[in-house]
Amino acid sequence: MNALNEAISKIGVVPVIKLNNPERDAAPLAKALCEGGLPVAEVTFRAAGADKAIRIMKETCPDMIVGAGTVLTAEQVHAAVDAGAQFIVSPGFSYVLADTCKELNIPYFPGVTTPTEYQMALPYGYEVLKFFPAEQSGGLAKIKAMSAPFPMFKIMPTGGISLKNLEEYLSCPVIAACGGSYMVKAEDIESGNWEKIIDLCKQSREIVDRVRG
Ligand code: 3PG
Repeated sequence: MNALNEAISKIGVVPVIKLNNPERDAAPLAKALCEGGLPVAEVTFRAAGADKAIRIMKETCPDMIVGAGTVLTAEQVHAAVDAGAQFIVSPGFSYVLADTCKELNIPYFPGVTTPTEYQMALPYGYEVLKFFPAEQSGGLAKIKAMSAPFPMFKIMPTGGISLKNLEEYLSCPVIAACGGSYMVKAEDIESGNWEKIIDLCKQSREIVDRVRG
């Protein structure tokens, strides 16, 4: 795997973040994730100002890996890259995004769940695909079934991952890392409950370390 994918796999869990108030929350959240042992974030474009959040997080914790999620348009790819994003994630597979990311030389994790989508991603030579929404699309059983015809891909499942099923996912060798929002709940961000976020990150990191040694 390339250096970025290795680094993300080593961390094991990618917090999926939606920030309604990046000026207030991006810096303390970046610090909390790093303190909790998960120095990586997928900042979703579901909230306006995601690019601002990416910029602030990178300024606050320069060693943290910060990418953009729920990217739907080429314009958002450009905004994310301008803000310092190190990877792009989309919920589905998009030729427009694949080509834009290639042009800008930014790693892209397209979302897939079906054989057709895996096959669409194949010519691009990706090492890791996002599997979204994971639990709702068949979970680990489907991911394993898909890896039979497509052993060249490692998978980053997102959607329905929590402390309850994290260990099971991470134990599967096909899994590169798991994405999730369970450790960065909207109410905890809103109330500035950074201690709770740090604690949930630490619990996640303990599972990663236990499973992966
Ligand atoms: C995503 O955007 O990847 C998902 O919404 C995260 O899913 P979760 O909220 O179930 O973790």
